Amino acid sequence: MPRYFSTLPTVPIPKTLLIVLAFSAVVLMKMSLISPTPSLNGLILKNVDGNGQGQAALSSYDVDGKHDHDHKIDANLNMKDNGDNDSVTHTENEGEEDLGEGLFDPIRMGDIHLKHRIVMCPLTRHRADERGVHRKGLGEVYYEQRASDGGLIITEGTVVAHEAGGEANVPGIYSAEQVDGWKSMTDKVHAKGGKIVCQLWALGRVADPSLVDIVYAPSKIPLIPPSPDNPSSAPDSESGKFEKSKAESKLKEMTQKDIDRFVAHFKQAARNAVKAGFDGIEVHAANGYLIDQFIQTNSNNRTDAYGGPSPLHRIQFLLDILESVSAVIPISRVGLRISPYSDFQGMRMVRPLDTFVPLLEEVLTRYPDLAYVHIIKGGEGDDIQPLRNVVSDLGRGTGVIVAGEYTPDKARRVVREKGGAVGFGRYFISNPDLPFRIANNLPLNEWDEDTFYTTEAEGYTE
Ligand SMILES: Cc1cc2nc3c(=O)[nH]c(=O)nc-3n(C[C@H](O)[C@H](O)[C@H](O)COP(=O)(O)O)c2cc1C
Repeated sequence: MPRYFSTLPTVPIPKTLLIVLAFSAVVLMKMSLISPTPSLNGLILKNVDGNGQGQAALSSYDVDGKHDHDHKIDANLNMKDNGDNDSVTHTENEGEEDLGEGLFDPIRMGDIHLKHRIVMCPLTRHRADERGVHRKGLGEVYYEQRASDGGLIITEGTVVAHEAGGEANVPGIYSAEQVDGWKSMTDKVHAKGGKIVCQLWALGRVADPSLVDIVYAPSKIPLIPPSPDNPSSAPDSESGKFEKSKAESKLKEMTQKDIDRFVAHFKQAARNAVKAGFDGIEVHAANGYLIDQFIQTNSNNRTDAYGGPSPLHRIQFLLDILESVSAVIPISRVGLRISPYSDFQGMRMVRPLDTFVPLLEEVLTRYPDLAYVHIIKGGEGDDIQPLRNVVSDLGRGTGVIVAGEYTPDKARRVVREKGGAVGFGRYFISNPDLPFRIANNLPLNEWDEDTFYTTEAEGYTE
């Protein structure tokens, strides 16, 4: 099991002092309850044993993530800087008994240092304008509301170029206006001590053909129209999304030239993300979009270097993208999202692990400093442990984020048993202050699907 340990030395603390510290923490939490922008404070008491002996640690991280330090409170409450920027070490403890990491223990995702492990998943919300720019006072408020001290937000899917798009009212990161728009959002998140990475997205065969001239895909394999037997091939048509099968008439199998151009789009988008002040990027290789379409045999029947039975061919497009983005942003600030078991948008190839294990092995052999791997888990019996094992074997400080129908209890359990962090999607829509609520065991609001993809403030910031 991948584990992350603080190398902070332990110092015994008298029981009375621990009680005072715990009381102070509660008071600070309560104070932030009445704050207009509630955020978690960084005080974390941990490793207190039954005899009242323990260790208190206060982690503080610079917003830019460059000069992160762990501080330790000694028994006299003097803060001491232990001077170690990389105080979280990566070790292999697969199969060991539960060592009890908690949702509110700090964690490192490559060079992105977090104070807690509740991650906001990427969530498309259709609130950008028709030029793919977030509207003033709307997107900013949305992301600011969801920022927390030391917490990670992954933006909604953000298209890397106009020709990589094909969904109405989604943001891009290829024009100066879009970059400016994102800058004000990253500023707001950083002002609350949060971290934010941009999810870079190309749609491929699921693009709406009324919005793009050509629908680029690895192969001319359209989505089959939805049917009761195959409800997942067209996503969410009830929620206002388009009928994917219409893309067939404009579908083009990508040539090498097309591939090179799309790879260059990802590179420029990564450069723009740095300019916009993001802490990193997440390469969206999940959910049946373009990169996933290359990876899986359901949508790729090429016979060249980008297709065929060998997973190493089908992951070549992803490898090209990782190589290109790593030239403009440190790989320790690049995350990768995969969904090996999802059948969304006509995916879920036979024996997904035969492809996704070699995929991670290849990626992490080339890039052991990758920031994180973000895995959308499947259902009962869909084992993601082999993927975690690859990360713990080959990653150097690479984090794992798991997502998919987590409740706070399930999240606590998976972090305790497996380490890593947990992505929440829909609960972040209906609970902007989700980390605060979980920390304080407050009830959670249920989400309202009817406002997921509407274009106004209701269900978004209000
Ligand atoms: C409204 C909505 C929009 C989503 N948009 C994206 C997206 O842009 N990129 C992505 O990778 N996943 C997207 N997802 C999937 C979520 O990131 C997440 O994996 C999923 O909601 C499962 O997590 P949950 O059960 O905590 O909601 C979206 C999900 C929802 C409900």
